[in-house]
Amino acid sequence: IPVDPFDLVIFGGTGDLARRKILPGLYRRFVAGQMPEDARIIGAARSDLADESYRADIREALVEFIGKGKLSEEQMAAFLSRLHYVAIDATGESGWKALAALMRENVVRAFYFSVAPGLFGELAERLHAHGVANSESRIVIEKPFGRDLESARELNRTLAAHFDETQIYRIDHYLGKETVQNLMAVRFGNVLFEPLWNSQYVDHIQITVAETVGVGGRGGYYDRSGAMRDMVQNHLMQLLCLIAMEPPARFEPDEVRDEKLKVIRALEPVERDDIVRGQYAAKGKIASYHADVDDDDSITESFIAMKLHVSNWRWAGTPFYVRTGKRLRARQSEIAVVFKDAPHSIFGAAAGRHRNILTIRLQPNEGMTLGVTIKEPGPGGMRLVDVPLDMSFADALGPDADEIPEAYERLVMDVMRGNQTLFMRGDEVEAAWAWTDPIIEGWERREDAPVPYEPGSSGPEESAMLLHRENRRWREIR
Ligand code: BG6
Repeated sequence: IPVDPFDLVIFGGTGDLARRKILPGLYRRFVAGQMPEDARIIGAARSDLADESYRADIREALVEFIGKGKLSEEQMAAFLSRLHYVAIDATGESGWKALAALMRENVVRAFYFSVAPGLFGELAERLHAHGVANSESRIVIEKPFGRDLESARELNRTLAAHFDETQIYRIDHYLGKETVQNLMAVRFGNVLFEPLWNSQYVDHIQITVAETVGVGGRGGYYDRSGAMRDMVQNHLMQLLCLIAMEPPARFEPDEVRDEKLKVIRALEPVERDDIVRGQYAAKGKIASYHADVDDDDSITESFIAMKLHVSNWRWAGTPFYVRTGKRLRARQSEIAVVFKDAPHSIFGAAAGRHRNILTIRLQPNEGMTLGVTIKEPGPGGMRLVDVPLDMSFADALGPDADEIPEAYERLVMDVMRGNQTLFMRGDEVEAAWAWTDPIIEGWERREDAPVPYEPGSSGPEESAMLLHRENRRWREIR
């Protein structure tokens, strides 16, 4: 899908996100031939840098985050020549005239706010005051979109004072992941799944986003957020929406987002017994959460597991179990749709219990597996086994599939195309906070402490119990 010529200004252009994700992503799109001839990228930050020094800095970032072996000197030079730099004071007046002078007419103007959320308002205001942005411009912002409903509303109001909702691109990078988009293709592009996609046939759904990393290095931010604000309110909630939503009439931004919003609004409040919060302890050389955030009294959770109910016609009676945590056994994100038992086993009790499970692997090893039951080969009688109908995207799609685009590449290009389908709308963000707020307030009021778990495990024992007590089991993290 073609991309219009653009001027993309990255505020925070020398920052970590820009160096680690945004610019390497843009470079890959450039190499893929997706960046139009007259597209430019303008880094903006406080330090005083010449274009050449900025290019040298970004060259280093590309080498660091893409790897020297994967870079071509020629292409890198061509890409870097698209880069410019403006020193700017987000909270003052310096640099804005220079930026205004640099912007071109008749190209898409996009502004990536890769800065602390506290600066969003100031930036939005100055973009207008200095005539840098116009009514066609787009702004891109990253989470956190507030830390509760009130602050999210405040942020939405601030942005709305300067930009229309159709100009605002709120990134949830999970929506840019290839498999996450594939979820919609699988659900709505096939006739096989949708008739079974409801509480009549689905016993339960599991969503797991397990990480091996701890919070070291960003403890300051994390300790004020915890897993609920950092992962559940946004990424896991979005996955849940895509799994649970009704088919939109068209794959259009507002139609998709309307359906997601309905799911969030249909979420029941969560019972206290249906939530497990954990915090990683120390093990061997691995520091504890307390040590990582440098606060022995912290009661912030680094793990959470919950049982949720989407209270609507399709899902009444089917629980959704979601969990996410740091310092777990493996980096593994997947969604498992566990179907119900066949209504009657003609093979008798000896054949055992067999269930179809559709597993959607987000990372690593993106792909999908459908577990089906067949007869065990051989003359030993009618014995049943479960075998995977496996589809790894890398295998199915040929040699290019190991170059599956990173979430940011896809999303930044969608901004340029003016396609908001994979971005969160303001009302979705608010609805998600409206659901998480009472849960978090309860913990804070009662000063609930999380239970400890061992690094390298699947989380606290209590998380396993959440399913055991209902005769179910988490899928293994390995
Ligand atoms: C971020 C969270 O949004 O997502 C991090 O702030 C988390 O805490 C990260 O590690 C996970 O993203 P990914 O793409 O590595 O699964």
